[in-house]
Amino acid sequence: MSEPISRMGVLGAGTMGAGVAQVAAEAGLEVMVHDPVEGAFERARTLIAGFLARKVQKEQLSEADARAALARLHATARLDEIAAAELVVEAIPEDLTLKTDAFRRLDAAAGTETILATNTSSLSVARLAATTQHPERVVGMHFFNPVPLMVLVEVVAAPAAAQPNVERVAEAARRLGKTPVVTTDTPGFIVNRVARPFYLEALRIVGEGLAGVEQVDGAMRGIGFRMGPFELIDAIGLDVNFAVSQSVYEQFFFDARYRPHPMQRMLVDAGRLGRKASAGFYDYQTDGTRGGVWPGISHRADGPTLEPLSGEQVQARILATIVNEAASAVAEGVATPEAIDVAMRLGTNYPSGPLEWGERIGLAHVVGTLDVLHALVPDGRYRVVPLLRSLAERNGSFFEPGE
Ligand SMILES: NC(=O)c1ccc[n+]([C@@H]2O[C@H](COP(=O)([O-])OP(=O)(O)OC[C@H]3O[C@@H](n4cnc5c(N)ncnc54)[C@H](O)[C@@H]3O)[C@@H](O)[C@H]2O)c1
Repeated sequence: MSEPISRMGVLGAGTMGAGVAQVAAEAGLEVMVHDPVEGAFERARTLIAGFLARKVQKEQLSEADARAALARLHATARLDEIAAAELVVEAIPEDLTLKTDAFRRLDAAAGTETILATNTSSLSVARLAATTQHPERVVGMHFFNPVPLMVLVEVVAAPAAAQPNVERVAEAARRLGKTPVVTTDTPGFIVNRVARPFYLEALRIVGEGLAGVEQVDGAMRGIGFRMGPFELIDAIGLDVNFAVSQSVYEQFFFDARYRPHPMQRMLVDAGRLGRKASAGFYDYQTDGTRGGVWPGISHRADGPTLEPLSGEQVQARILATIVNEAASAVAEGVATPEAIDVAMRLGTNYPSGPLEWGERIGLAHVVGTLDVLHALVPDGRYRVVPLLRSLAERNGSFFEPGE
């Protein structure tokens, strides 16, 4: 068995790099950070110092431990100094050219024992690995924002990655106090894929004039979600949410299930980027207080309309599409059913894992909801994943070992 990781290199000192450096330093690792942009490391260090000071204030950390953690953070202008660590986490901007260049250079600078991890949210880890001489040591390590608070890490087992390296990255995540889940190198990994219908189905419901924004948000909060889909998109940022939607859609070769909604683009075009712009689906006052729904998305009701949906119907539609998506991830071997449920609870704060939830509602019920929708809109977005239908028909469970 290899020694536990004691030194970590971090490439990029932005939002994510700073967070990763912080949790690693707090966990007792020596952390070398490289960011070529003038002042980037100092900004990150100041942010980290502020975060640690608040933890001291709240008595979650002693002053001595905060000081010791800060002392374990080191900036370096040299790539070979971060590449001397047992594990390097790359957290530079989501740009394929930038990242392939960084991986080529890291690969050349690092000894063969060093694991190179990427925090990419949407690029293929295999693609980054393929630019190196040692693809077996390239693994995805997808942290969530804000890193110090979010406990999930998706460990992406790229096709050429050696299993011991995948395990070592999972072990490193645990060392940082995180919960790792292993996923294959597929679009959106687990969380950004299975979460898509939470937003997209809500957008379709509102777009079809079947319920209002507040009604959908209220319905989903009513079954335990901390925020409704529109409140959550406003918090994430319309631009970020739309970019992820588009990326997943393109990577699945324009499968109707992932098709973004024109309303997303319309709000982005209108500069309504969410809370950060004080304007998204809702209006916000400068102190952050939420106002009403933006009238720009109100639905015209001067023509014939369909019967509006009840809160339960909204819940059933959104949940059924999430369960179907989670089932598709199981069917495609993206991750184990347990990992998918854990990832959705920790990565998105869902009140329950979608597969467990689907079984509580009854898989036959979920299939029934999807079949009705598919009959109405037969473009493929509501097609039932065969594994889900089969389990529903034989009263089976995602959590039973395969026969
Ligand atoms: N922000 C999020 O919510 C989030 C969540 C999960 C994953 N990610 C992923 O994490 C990565 C980083 O995102 P971010 O939000 O921290 O970006 P960011 O823009 O905040 O930070 C990127 C940092 O990288 C530095 N940088 C640029 N080129 C570099 C290079 N060649 N070498 C070293 N440093 C370089 C920049 O100066 C900047 O400080 C992206 O791949 C992103 O998709 C982001």
